[in-house]
Amino acid sequence: MSQESALLSKFKLGNIELKNRVVMAPMTRSRAFTENIPHEKASLYYKQRASAGLIITEGTQVSPQGIGYLWTPGIYTREQIKAWEKIVNEVHDAEGKIFLQLWHVGRISHPDLLGGMQPMAPSSIKALGKTFTQNGWQDLAEPKMMTRQDIKQTIDDFRKAANNAREAGFDGVDLHGAFGYLIDQFIQTGTNIRTDEYGGNIQNRSRFLLELIESVLEVWGDYKVGIKLSPSNRFNDMQDDNPKENFFYLIDKLNDYKLAYLHLMEPQTDVSELNGYVTNVAEYFRPIYKGTIISNAGHSFESGESFINSNKADLISFGSLFISNPDLVNRFRNSYPLTQPDKKTFYGGDERGYIDYPEYTE
Ligand SMILES: Cc1cc2nc3c(=O)[nH]c(=O)nc-3n(C[C@H](O)[C@H](O)[C@H](O)COP(=O)(O)O)c2cc1C
Repeated sequence: MSQESALLSKFKLGNIELKNRVVMAPMTRSRAFTENIPHEKASLYYKQRASAGLIITEGTQVSPQGIGYLWTPGIYTREQIKAWEKIVNEVHDAEGKIFLQLWHVGRISHPDLLGGMQPMAPSSIKALGKTFTQNGWQDLAEPKMMTRQDIKQTIDDFRKAANNAREAGFDGVDLHGAFGYLIDQFIQTGTNIRTDEYGGNIQNRSRFLLELIESVLEVWGDYKVGIKLSPSNRFNDMQDDNPKENFFYLIDKLNDYKLAYLHLMEPQTDVSELNGYVTNVAEYFRPIYKGTIISNAGHSFESGESFINSNKADLISFGSLFISNPDLVNRFRNSYPLTQPDKKTFYGGDERGYIDYPEYTE
């Protein structure tokens, strides 16, 4: 199988040689228990998965204001940078490549997670939903509408975090523009009713992301910054008046930048609930975006092969399967059976379900 496999073939991402086209999707594991510093076993966790062509780390906050979940890591303190450096070194020693996912949750938060601060978002529109805090489950809080100064500051926080990621030795960075977090909140109409240059038409609603890209590219240079988008995802109470046309505009606009990749999620809900949304995301946006596309969500080895062979994507990312199959690439190569992940150990808890999934042995 390996000789003919498209997924297992090499790929050149800018000037980075990927040994295969299997990407580990970013996954929060909520084990950064102390001061949002990655867990001491995180280096082992990522190293175990370094046979992926590319690892994209769990979402990592660019600032204390960007936190939306307990025990998620950041990259804004010295200790955090040092812990990430150790992780990167382990992955590089195992001949892997690793990008850091930069994250700001915007309105998906609560003052208990922010040292008493109110969450910030493009507009003061509260999301339906709850979040788990040190004081138990709480309704998501009403966010404060960001001032121009807040926007400037946040872009600066991303720039600094990108710089810290360079210092830690990463191969590049990923901007979390999916799932209804801050970047997505600017893009979509249900969360952005601003009347200044960051709201209104899609040109204005794209401005925050494009300014972020420019600022992070200045730190990293061409083909070292990727972005994840979920144009057909309603998670986190997201809504858009015209998602097809809006994401068409934005994704076409991304052609102006030398990005490492565009990571696109297929819808994860029943497509009959997605009236007006694109339901075949990679296929629909492939002719529009001229750069590298990573396709995500629900892939198997077979669907990954088929997406690459039919030119819907260049790379395929796997999320939950990478949790329970650290040697996913080898299992694909040898047609070994896959282990299904235990969802109970996805977030928080101890080392069980984190670093104890074994490699396959015959
Ligand atoms: C435990 C868990 C944590 C996740 N955390 C993140 C995250 O931090 N950032 C992100 O962009 N996506 C996150 N995701 C979504 C995955 O990156 C991926 O889009 C999703 O799991 C679908 O891919 P799959 O069907 O191969 O699992 C998470 C998914 C899981 C299962």
